[in-house]
Amino acid sequence: MPTVTFLPMNVSCEALVGESILDVALAHGVDLQHNCGGVCACSTCHVRIRQGAEALPEMEDEEADQLDEAEGLTLESRLGCQAKILEDVEMIVEIPQLNPAIAKLFHEGAH
Ligand code: FES
Repeated sequence: MPTVTFLPMNVSCEALVGESILDVALAHGVDLQHNCGGVCACSTCHVRIRQGAEALPEMEDEEADQLDEAEGLTLESRLGCQAKILEDVEMIVEIPQLNPAIAKLFHEGAH
């Protein structure tokens, strides 16, 4: 069974093959933003894959375009809603901590 450890909160979760990182986070109470509801139309579900990226599908152009908008983009960046776990893997996923002022705007926008 795949496992995902979310940083910096250090929460380890069991996952199912076929679930996205966003699915896993939400199923385990991990606060990963998802303003568009997981349809690749925002960049708030941005995560960095520290380990296990080989178990994810290649990035589609749509995902790459949305990711361009994300704050703190790195080569390990993916959109959590598009990153489906395809294999049994131990994955380590970092949720970038937003600048507090921006995080507040996202939270306000979500309500
Ligand atoms: S939740 Fe909007 S792109 Fe992932």
